[in-house]
Amino acid sequence: MTTRYRVEYALKSHRRDQFIEWIKGLLAVPFVLYSSPHGAFDGKDISRLAQTREEAHRRYSEILHDVEVMIDDHLANQNDPNNPFPSKLKLLVPTIGPFFTRLPLEAAFKYQDSRRYISSRRFVSPSFNDVRLILNSAQIMAVTTTPGSLQLATFDGDVTLYDDGQSLEPSSPVIPRLLDLLRRDIKIGIVTAAGYTTADKYHARLHGLLSAIDSSPDLTPTQKQSLIVMGGEANYLFRFSPSSPHLLSPVPRSEWLTPEMAAWDESAITALLDTAEQTLQECIRSLNLPAVLLRKDRAVGIIPDPPTVRIPRESLEETVLVVQKALELSPVGRAKKVPFCAFNGGRDVFVDIGDKSWGVTVCQRWFGRQIAQEQGVQVTEGEGEEKWIIKGQNTLHVGDQFLSAGANDFRARSVGTTAWIASPEETVELLDELAGLMDKEKRMVLRVRNGVGME
Ligand code: IMP
Ligand code: MG
Repeated sequence: MTTRYRVEYALKSHRRDQFIEWIKGLLAVPFVLYSSPHGAFDGKDISRLAQTREEAHRRYSEILHDVEVMIDDHLANQNDPNNPFPSKLKLLVPTIGPFFTRLPLEAAFKYQDSRRYISSRRFVSPSFNDVRLILNSAQIMAVTTTPGSLQLATFDGDVTLYDDGQSLEPSSPVIPRLLDLLRRDIKIGIVTAAGYTTADKYHARLHGLLSAIDSSPDLTPTQKQSLIVMGGEANYLFRFSPSSPHLLSPVPRSEWLTPEMAAWDESAITALLDTAEQTLQECIRSLNLPAVLLRKDRAVGIIPDPPTVRIPRESLEETVLVVQKALELSPVGRAKKVPFCAFNGGRDVFVDIGDKSWGVTVCQRWFGRQIAQEQGVQVTEGEGEEKWIIKGQNTLHVGDQFLSAGANDFRARSVGTTAWIASPEETVELLDELAGLMDKEKRMVLRVRNGVGME
Protein backbone atom coordinates (compact mmCIF):
# COMPACT_ATOMS: atom_id res chain seq x y z
CA MET A 1 0.00 0.00 0.00
CA THR A 2 2.79 2.38 0.94
CA THR A 3 4.62 1.59 -2.26
CA ARG A 4 1.45 2.06 -4.30
CA TYR A 5 0.89 5.41 -2.60
CA ARG A 6 4.46 6.50 -3.29
CA VAL A 7 4.19 5.50 -6.92
CA GLU A 8 0.92 7.43 -7.26
CA TYR A 9 2.40 10.44 -5.52
CA ALA A 10 5.75 10.49 -7.22
CA LEU A 11 4.42 9.74 -10.67
CA LYS A 12 1.23 11.67 -10.63
CA SER A 13 0.15 14.05 -7.98
CA HIS A 14 2.96 16.59 -8.29
CA ARG A 15 2.36 16.68 -12.02
CA ARG A 16 -1.40 17.15 -11.91
CA ASP A 17 -3.54 20.16 -11.20
CA GLN A 18 -6.58 18.62 -9.55
CA PHE A 19 -8.96 21.48 -10.33
CA ILE A 20 -8.13 21.46 -14.04
CA GLU A 21 -8.28 17.65 -14.18
CA TRP A 22 -11.67 17.71 -12.47
CA ILE A 23 -13.13 20.22 -14.95
CA LYS A 24 -11.61 18.20 -17.80
CA GLY A 25 -13.38 15.12 -16.44
CA LEU A 26 -16.73 16.95 -16.33
CA LEU A 27 -16.36 18.11 -19.94
CA ALA A 28 -15.41 14.61 -21.08
CA VAL A 29 -18.99 13.39 -20.52
CA PRO A 30 -20.74 15.60 -23.12
CA PHE A 31 -17.75 15.07 -25.41
CA VAL A 32 -18.36 11.32 -25.36
CA LEU A 33 -22.12 11.73 -25.72
CA TYR A 34 -22.15 14.39 -28.45
CA SER A 35 -18.89 14.17 -30.36
CA SER A 36 -20.33 11.90 -33.15
CA PRO A 37 -16.96 11.15 -34.78
CA HIS A 38 -18.50 9.56 -37.88
CA GLY A 39 -20.09 12.91 -38.79
CA ALA A 40 -16.64 14.36 -39.36
CA PHE A 41 -15.80 12.13 -42.28
CA ASP A 42 -18.91 10.54 -43.81
CA GLY A 43 -19.90 13.94 -45.20
CA LYS A 44 -23.55 12.83 -45.31
CA ASP A 45 -25.25 15.25 -43.10
CA ILE A 46 -23.68 18.70 -42.72
CA SER A 47 -26.63 20.07 -40.79
CA ARG A 48 -26.28 17.27 -38.24
CA LEU A 49 -22.64 18.24 -37.74
CA ALA A 50 -23.64 21.83 -36.94
CA GLN A 51 -26.31 20.50 -34.63
CA THR A 52 -23.90 18.35 -32.63
CA ARG A 53 -21.48 21.30 -32.40
CA GLU A 54 -24.25 23.47 -30.99
CA GLU A 55 -25.31 20.74 -28.61
CA ALA A 56 -21.72 20.23 -27.36
CA HIS A 57 -21.32 24.02 -26.99
CA ARG A 58 -24.52 24.25 -24.98
CA ARG A 59 -23.55 21.35 -22.69
CA TYR A 60 -19.98 22.62 -22.13
CA SER A 61 -21.39 26.10 -21.36
CA GLU A 62 -23.86 24.65 -18.86
CA ILE A 63 -21.14 22.69 -17.07
CA LEU A 64 -18.89 25.73 -16.82
CA HIS A 65 -21.83 27.79 -15.59
CA ASP A 66 -22.40 25.20 -12.84
CA VAL A 67 -18.72 25.28 -11.83
CA GLU A 68 -18.93 29.09 -11.79
CA VAL A 69 -21.86 28.90 -9.34
CA MET A 70 -19.89 26.43 -7.21
CA ILE A 71 -16.98 28.88 -7.04
CA ASP A 72 -19.42 31.60 -5.92
CA ASP A 73 -20.52 29.29 -3.11
CA HIS A 74 -16.85 28.53 -2.25
CA LEU A 75 -16.13 32.29 -2.11
CA ALA A 76 -19.06 32.88 0.24
CA ASN A 77 -17.90 29.96 2.35
CA GLN A 78 -14.26 31.09 2.61
CA ASN A 79 -15.35 34.61 3.58
CA ASP A 80 -17.64 33.40 6.36
CA PRO A 81 -15.57 32.95 9.55
CA ASN A 82 -18.53 31.35 11.34
CA ASN A 83 -18.95 28.51 8.88
CA PRO A 84 -16.90 25.48 9.98
CA PHE A 85 -17.94 23.34 6.99
CA PRO A 86 -16.01 22.96 3.75
CA SER A 87 -17.65 24.19 0.56
CA LYS A 88 -19.05 21.70 -1.95
CA LEU A 89 -16.11 22.54 -4.24
CA LYS A 90 -13.64 21.81 -1.44
CA LEU A 91 -15.25 18.40 -0.93
CA LEU A 92 -15.01 17.61 -4.63
CA VAL A 93 -11.51 19.06 -5.15
CA PRO A 94 -9.72 18.83 -1.78
CA THR A 95 -6.62 20.73 -2.97
CA ILE A 96 -8.61 23.81 -3.99
CA GLY A 97 -7.29 27.03 -2.43
CA PRO A 98 -8.79 30.45 -1.79
CA PHE A 99 -10.22 32.55 -4.63
CA PHE A 100 -9.82 36.32 -4.78
CA THR A 101 -12.52 36.98 -7.36
CA ARG A 102 -15.43 35.14 -8.85
CA LEU A 103 -14.63 33.47 -12.18
CA PRO A 104 -16.99 34.05 -15.14
CA LEU A 105 -16.24 30.60 -16.58
CA GLU A 106 -19.21 30.41 -18.95
CA ALA A 107 -18.29 33.66 -20.69
CA ALA A 108 -14.63 32.64 -20.72
CA PHE A 109 -15.54 29.30 -22.31
CA LYS A 110 -17.55 31.07 -25.02
CA TYR A 111 -14.58 33.32 -25.76
CA GLN A 112 -12.08 30.44 -25.94
CA ASP A 113 -14.51 28.30 -27.97
CA SER A 114 -14.68 31.07 -30.55
CA ARG A 115 -10.88 30.91 -30.84
CA ARG A 116 -10.11 27.22 -30.34
CA TYR A 117 -13.26 25.57 -31.76
CA ILE A 118 -13.46 23.22 -28.80
CA SER A 119 -17.10 22.30 -29.49
CA SER A 120 -16.34 21.52 -33.14
CA ARG A 121 -13.86 18.79 -32.29
CA ARG A 122 -14.99 15.22 -32.85
CA PHE A 123 -11.89 13.26 -31.86
CA VAL A 124 -10.02 15.38 -29.31
CA SER A 125 -11.85 16.06 -26.06
CA PRO A 126 -11.51 19.33 -24.11
CA SER A 127 -7.90 19.22 -22.97
CA PHE A 128 -5.82 20.38 -20.05
CA ASN A 129 -4.66 23.36 -22.12
CA ASP A 130 -8.24 24.24 -23.14
CA VAL A 131 -9.25 24.37 -19.47
CA ARG A 132 -6.09 26.25 -18.44
CA LEU A 133 -6.82 28.92 -21.06
CA ILE A 134 -10.51 29.12 -20.08
CA LEU A 135 -9.45 29.72 -16.47
CA ASN A 136 -6.97 32.41 -17.61
CA SER A 137 -9.65 34.18 -19.64
CA ALA A 138 -12.09 34.01 -16.73
CA GLN A 139 -9.48 35.44 -14.40
CA ILE A 140 -8.61 38.40 -16.59
CA MET A 141 -12.30 39.07 -17.21
CA ALA A 142 -12.74 39.14 -13.43
CA VAL A 143 -9.89 41.58 -12.79
CA THR A 144 -11.18 44.00 -15.40
CA THR A 145 -14.87 44.14 -14.42
CA THR A 146 -14.52 47.64 -13.01
CA PRO A 147 -12.11 50.31 -14.29
CA GLY A 148 -8.96 50.56 -12.20
CA SER A 149 -9.51 47.22 -10.47
CA LEU A 150 -6.26 45.82 -11.83
CA GLN A 151 -3.56 47.78 -10.01
CA LEU A 152 -0.57 45.45 -10.12
CA ALA A 153 0.63 42.91 -12.68
CA THR A 154 3.58 40.74 -11.71
CA PHE A 155 5.49 38.58 -14.15
CA ASP A 156 7.79 35.62 -13.85
CA GLY A 157 10.91 35.84 -16.07
CA ASP A 158 12.02 32.58 -17.73
CA VAL A 159 9.39 31.07 -20.06
CA THR A 160 6.94 33.90 -19.24
CA LEU A 161 8.70 37.01 -20.60
CA TYR A 162 11.47 35.26 -22.56
CA ASP A 163 12.46 31.70 -23.47
CA ASP A 164 14.16 29.64 -20.77
CA GLY A 165 17.62 31.02 -20.01
CA GLN A 166 17.26 33.84 -22.58
CA SER A 167 16.84 37.62 -22.16
CA LEU A 168 14.24 40.25 -22.95
CA GLU A 169 15.65 41.56 -26.25
CA PRO A 170 14.49 44.93 -27.69
CA SER A 171 12.58 43.15 -30.47
CA SER A 172 10.42 41.15 -28.03
CA PRO A 173 6.68 41.65 -28.72
CA VAL A 174 6.01 41.53 -24.98
CA ILE A 175 7.76 44.91 -24.45
CA PRO A 176 5.13 47.19 -26.10
CA ARG A 177 2.43 45.29 -24.14
CA LEU A 178 4.23 45.94 -20.83
CA LEU A 179 4.63 49.62 -21.73
CA ASP A 180 0.90 49.71 -22.47
CA LEU A 181 0.19 48.48 -18.92
CA LEU A 182 2.40 51.25 -17.48
CA ARG A 183 0.56 53.79 -19.65
CA ARG A 184 -2.68 52.58 -18.07
CA ASP A 185 -1.16 53.29 -14.61
CA ILE A 186 -0.84 49.60 -13.80
CA LYS A 187 2.23 48.83 -11.68
CA ILE A 188 4.58 46.09 -12.83
CA GLY A 189 6.73 43.77 -10.74
CA ILE A 190 9.06 41.27 -12.36
CA VAL A 191 9.16 38.50 -9.77
CA THR A 192 11.82 36.05 -10.86
CA ALA A 193 13.69 33.26 -9.13
CA ALA A 194 16.87 34.39 -10.87
CA GLY A 195 18.88 35.64 -7.91
CA TYR A 196 21.64 38.19 -8.52
CA THR A 197 23.02 40.72 -6.08
CA THR A 198 23.90 43.37 -8.66
CA ALA A 199 21.96 45.47 -11.18
CA ASP A 200 24.19 44.62 -14.17
CA LYS A 201 23.02 40.98 -14.16
CA TYR A 202 19.31 41.95 -14.19
CA HIS A 203 20.06 44.55 -16.86
CA ALA A 204 21.59 41.78 -18.97
CA ARG A 205 18.33 39.77 -18.71
CA LEU A 206 15.88 42.69 -19.05
CA HIS A 207 17.74 45.31 -21.09
CA GLY A 208 15.18 45.48 -23.92
CA LEU A 209 12.40 46.46 -21.52
CA LEU A 210 14.53 48.81 -19.41
CA SER A 211 15.80 50.74 -22.44
CA ALA A 212 12.29 50.95 -23.93
CA ILE A 213 10.94 52.46 -20.70
CA ASP A 214 13.89 54.83 -20.47
CA SER A 215 13.49 56.15 -23.99
CA SER A 216 9.68 56.18 -24.05
CA PRO A 217 8.54 59.73 -24.92
CA ASP A 218 5.02 59.38 -23.52
CA LEU A 219 5.42 57.58 -20.17
CA THR A 220 5.32 60.01 -17.26
CA PRO A 221 8.12 59.90 -14.65
CA THR A 222 5.68 58.21 -12.22
CA GLN A 223 4.77 55.59 -14.79
CA LYS A 224 8.46 54.94 -15.41
CA GLN A 225 8.94 54.48 -11.67
CA SER A 226 6.17 51.89 -11.71
CA LEU A 227 8.48 48.99 -12.57
CA ILE A 228 10.43 47.01 -10.01
CA VAL A 229 12.40 43.80 -10.19
CA MET A 230 12.07 41.33 -7.34
CA GLY A 231 14.85 38.77 -7.72
CA GLY A 232 15.67 35.46 -6.03
CA GLU A 233 11.91 34.95 -5.39
CA ALA A 234 11.84 37.58 -2.61
CA ASN A 235 15.47 38.42 -1.86
CA TYR A 236 16.69 41.35 -3.98
CA LEU A 237 14.70 44.45 -4.90
CA PHE A 238 15.68 46.85 -7.70
CA ARG A 239 13.69 49.86 -8.89
CA PHE A 240 13.79 51.49 -12.28
CA SER A 241 16.23 54.38 -12.17
CA PRO A 242 17.00 56.37 -15.34
CA SER A 243 20.11 57.93 -13.79
CA SER A 244 21.73 54.61 -12.77
CA PRO A 245 24.27 52.99 -15.10
CA HIS A 246 22.15 49.85 -15.56
CA LEU A 247 18.80 51.67 -15.31
CA LEU A 248 18.15 49.82 -12.05
CA SER A 249 19.02 50.80 -8.54
CA PRO A 250 19.15 48.35 -5.60
CA VAL A 251 16.80 49.06 -2.70
CA PRO A 252 18.23 48.18 0.75
CA ARG A 253 16.34 45.35 2.47
CA SER A 254 15.52 47.61 5.42
CA GLU A 255 13.26 49.61 3.06
CA TRP A 256 11.10 46.73 1.88
CA LEU A 257 11.24 43.64 4.08
CA THR A 258 7.85 42.89 5.61
CA PRO A 259 7.89 42.50 9.42
CA GLU A 260 7.57 38.71 8.98
CA MET A 261 10.50 38.61 6.56
CA ALA A 262 12.62 40.79 8.84
CA ALA A 263 12.17 38.09 11.51
CA TRP A 264 13.75 35.37 9.35
CA ASP A 265 16.73 34.25 11.35
CA GLU A 266 20.14 34.32 9.60
CA SER A 267 21.35 31.16 11.35
CA ALA A 268 18.18 29.31 10.30
CA ILE A 269 18.72 30.49 6.71
CA THR A 270 22.27 29.12 6.77
CA ALA A 271 21.15 25.82 8.34
CA LEU A 272 18.44 25.44 5.69
CA LEU A 273 20.82 26.10 2.81
CA ASP A 274 23.40 23.72 4.37
CA THR A 275 20.85 20.90 4.52
CA ALA A 276 19.74 21.63 0.95
CA GLU A 277 23.35 21.68 -0.24
CA GLN A 278 24.11 18.33 1.38
CA THR A 279 20.96 16.72 -0.09
CA LEU A 280 21.64 18.11 -3.56
CA GLN A 281 25.21 16.73 -3.40
CA GLU A 282 23.78 13.32 -2.50
CA CYS A 283 21.39 13.51 -5.47
CA ILE A 284 24.26 14.35 -7.82
CA ARG A 285 26.00 11.20 -6.55
CA SER A 286 23.04 8.81 -6.35
CA LEU A 287 21.48 9.80 -9.69
CA ASN A 288 24.87 10.32 -11.34
CA LEU A 289 23.73 13.76 -12.51
CA PRO A 290 25.83 15.69 -15.04
CA ALA A 291 25.62 18.70 -12.72
CA VAL A 292 27.56 20.92 -10.35
CA LEU A 293 26.42 22.60 -7.20
CA LEU A 294 25.96 26.37 -7.04
CA ARG A 295 25.73 27.99 -3.61
CA LYS A 296 24.59 31.60 -3.37
CA ASP A 297 23.89 33.91 -0.49
CA ARG A 298 20.12 33.15 -0.46
CA ALA A 299 19.92 30.03 -2.66
CA VAL A 300 21.56 26.75 -3.55
CA GLY A 301 21.08 24.84 -6.77
CA ILE A 302 22.42 22.34 -9.24
CA ILE A 303 23.13 23.41 -12.80
CA PRO A 304 24.10 21.23 -15.79
CA ASP A 305 27.79 20.56 -16.32
CA PRO A 306 28.83 21.03 -19.08
CA PRO A 307 26.20 23.79 -19.46
CA THR A 308 24.89 22.42 -22.76
CA VAL A 309 23.98 18.99 -21.39
CA ARG A 310 20.32 18.28 -20.47
CA ILE A 311 19.64 16.66 -17.13
CA PRO A 312 16.71 14.22 -17.65
CA ARG A 313 13.38 15.60 -16.51
CA GLU A 314 12.80 12.60 -14.25
CA SER A 315 16.12 13.24 -12.46
CA LEU A 316 15.25 16.92 -11.97
CA GLU A 317 11.85 16.01 -10.50
CA GLU A 318 13.32 13.30 -8.27
CA THR A 319 15.89 15.80 -6.97
CA VAL A 320 13.20 18.39 -6.20
CA LEU A 321 11.04 15.88 -4.31
CA VAL A 322 14.03 14.50 -2.35
CA VAL A 323 15.32 17.92 -1.32
CA GLN A 324 11.81 19.15 -0.50
CA LYS A 325 11.22 16.18 1.83
CA ALA A 326 14.70 16.40 3.39
CA LEU A 327 14.12 20.08 4.21
CA GLU A 328 10.58 19.55 5.53
CA LEU A 329 11.85 16.82 7.88
CA SER A 330 15.02 18.62 9.00
CA PRO A 331 15.00 20.38 12.41
CA VAL A 332 15.12 23.83 10.75
CA GLY A 333 12.36 22.84 8.32
CA ARG A 334 10.13 21.49 11.08
CA ALA A 335 10.54 24.73 13.03
CA LYS A 336 8.91 26.50 10.01
CA LYS A 337 10.67 29.77 10.78
CA VAL A 338 11.98 30.38 7.28
CA PRO A 339 9.95 29.61 4.15
CA PHE A 340 11.78 28.10 1.20
CA CYS A 341 11.01 27.05 -2.34
CA ALA A 342 12.52 23.99 -4.06
CA PHE A 343 11.73 23.85 -7.74
CA ASN A 344 12.57 22.35 -11.10
CA GLY A 345 13.64 25.18 -13.38
CA GLY A 346 13.48 23.04 -16.53
CA ARG A 347 17.24 22.63 -16.86
CA ASP A 348 18.25 23.01 -13.20
CA VAL A 349 17.00 22.66 -9.63
CA PHE A 350 17.12 25.46 -7.06
CA VAL A 351 16.24 25.89 -3.43
CA ASP A 352 15.57 29.54 -2.65
CA ILE A 353 14.94 31.26 0.65
CA GLY A 354 11.40 32.64 0.57
CA ASP A 355 9.05 32.14 -2.36
CA LYS A 356 7.00 34.15 -4.84
CA SER A 357 4.14 34.69 -2.40
CA TRP A 358 6.59 36.88 -0.47
CA GLY A 359 7.93 38.42 -3.68
CA VAL A 360 4.45 39.46 -4.82
CA THR A 361 3.59 40.65 -1.28
CA VAL A 362 6.60 42.97 -1.35
CA CYS A 363 5.38 44.42 -4.68
CA GLN A 364 1.88 44.94 -3.20
CA ARG A 365 3.36 46.90 -0.29
CA TRP A 366 5.94 48.83 -2.30
CA PHE A 367 3.42 50.06 -4.84
CA GLY A 368 0.75 50.58 -2.19
CA ARG A 369 3.06 53.15 -0.61
CA GLN A 370 3.81 54.65 -4.02
CA ILE A 371 0.09 55.07 -4.78
CA ALA A 372 -0.38 56.74 -1.37
CA GLN A 373 2.47 59.13 -2.16
CA GLU A 374 0.99 59.90 -5.59
CA GLN A 375 -2.13 60.97 -3.69
CA GLY A 376 -0.11 63.11 -1.31
CA VAL A 377 -0.25 60.71 1.63
CA GLN A 378 2.98 59.73 3.37
CA VAL A 379 2.66 56.25 4.85
CA THR A 380 5.15 54.38 6.94
CA GLU A 381 5.16 50.83 8.17
CA GLY A 382 2.44 49.94 10.59
CA GLU A 383 -0.19 52.53 11.22
CA GLY A 384 -2.31 53.50 8.25
CA GLU A 385 -0.30 51.41 5.80
CA GLU A 386 -2.66 48.45 5.68
CA LYS A 387 -5.37 50.18 3.67
CA TRP A 388 -2.91 51.18 0.94
CA ILE A 389 -1.42 47.71 0.38
CA ILE A 390 -2.61 46.43 -3.01
CA LYS A 391 -5.05 43.58 -2.46
CA GLY A 392 -5.08 40.08 -3.95
CA GLN A 393 -8.13 40.83 -6.10
CA ASN A 394 -6.30 43.83 -7.60
CA THR A 395 -3.16 41.80 -8.39
CA LEU A 396 -2.47 39.44 -11.30
CA HIS A 397 0.63 37.22 -11.34
CA VAL A 398 1.54 35.69 -14.71
CA GLY A 399 3.84 32.67 -14.68
CA ASP A 400 4.56 29.25 -16.16
CA GLN A 401 5.15 27.11 -13.06
CA PHE A 402 1.90 26.17 -11.33
CA LEU A 403 2.12 22.50 -10.49
CA SER A 404 2.00 21.97 -6.75
CA ALA A 405 5.44 20.50 -6.05
CA GLY A 406 8.56 21.94 -7.58
CA ALA A 407 6.87 24.92 -9.24
CA ASN A 408 7.74 28.37 -8.04
CA ASP A 409 4.86 30.48 -9.43
CA PHE A 410 2.33 28.26 -7.62
CA ARG A 411 3.03 30.03 -4.32
CA ALA A 412 1.90 33.38 -5.73
CA ARG A 413 -1.65 31.95 -5.75
CA SER A 414 -1.95 32.56 -2.02
CA VAL A 415 -1.62 36.34 -2.37
CA GLY A 416 -3.22 37.27 -5.68
CA THR A 417 -5.00 36.15 -8.80
CA THR A 418 -2.90 34.27 -11.33
CA ALA A 419 -2.69 33.35 -15.00
CA TRP A 420 -0.85 30.21 -16.08
CA ILE A 421 0.90 30.55 -19.42
CA ALA A 422 3.10 28.03 -21.25
CA SER A 423 5.32 30.29 -23.39
CA PRO A 424 6.21 33.97 -23.97
CA GLU A 425 3.88 33.86 -27.02
CA GLU A 426 0.98 32.97 -24.72
CA THR A 427 1.93 35.90 -22.45
CA VAL A 428 1.58 38.21 -25.47
CA GLU A 429 -1.85 36.73 -26.28
CA LEU A 430 -2.95 37.10 -22.67
CA LEU A 431 -1.84 40.74 -22.55
CA ASP A 432 -3.71 41.48 -25.79
CA GLU A 433 -6.84 39.86 -24.35
CA LEU A 434 -6.39 41.91 -21.18
CA ALA A 435 -5.94 45.18 -23.10
CA GLY A 436 -9.03 44.36 -25.20
CA LEU A 437 -11.10 43.85 -22.05
CA MET A 438 -9.84 47.08 -20.45
CA ASP A 439 -10.64 49.04 -23.64
CA LYS A 440 -14.12 47.51 -23.75
CA GLU A 441 -14.63 48.45 -20.11
CA LYS A 442 -13.48 52.02 -20.80
CA ARG A 443 -15.88 52.31 -23.76
CA MET A 444 -18.76 51.04 -21.63
CA VAL A 445 -18.03 53.56 -18.88
CA LEU A 446 -17.91 56.37 -21.44
CA ARG A 447 -21.21 55.20 -22.96
CA VAL A 448 -22.89 55.14 -19.55
CA ARG A 449 -21.44 58.56 -18.70
CA ASN A 450 -22.76 60.01 -21.96
CA GLY A 451 -26.12 58.31 -21.45
CA VAL A 452 -25.81 56.32 -24.70
CA GLY A 453 -27.53 52.98 -24.82
CA MET A 454 -29.39 53.58 -21.57
CA GLU A 455 -33.14 53.29 -21.16
P1 IMP B 1 12.02 32.40 -13.24
O1 IMP B 1 11.33 31.53 -14.23
O2 IMP B 1 12.14 33.81 -13.72
O3 IMP B 1 11.45 32.29 -11.87
O4 IMP B 1 13.57 31.92 -13.18
C1 IMP B 1 13.92 30.61 -12.85
C2 IMP B 1 15.31 30.32 -13.35
O5 IMP B 1 16.26 31.26 -12.89
C3 IMP B 1 15.83 29.00 -12.83
O6 IMP B 1 15.39 27.92 -13.58
C4 IMP B 1 17.33 29.18 -12.94
O7 IMP B 1 17.78 28.76 -14.21
C5 IMP B 1 17.57 30.68 -12.84
N1 IMP B 1 18.25 31.09 -11.60
C6 IMP B 1 19.37 31.83 -11.55
N2 IMP B 1 19.72 32.09 -10.29
C7 IMP B 1 18.82 31.51 -9.51
C8 IMP B 1 18.64 31.45 -8.09
O8 IMP B 1 19.41 32.01 -7.29
N3 IMP B 1 17.58 30.76 -7.65
C9 IMP B 1 16.69 30.18 -8.49
N4 IMP B 1 16.81 30.22 -9.82
C10 IMP B 1 17.87 30.88 -10.33
MG1 MG C 1 9.47 30.66 -15.18
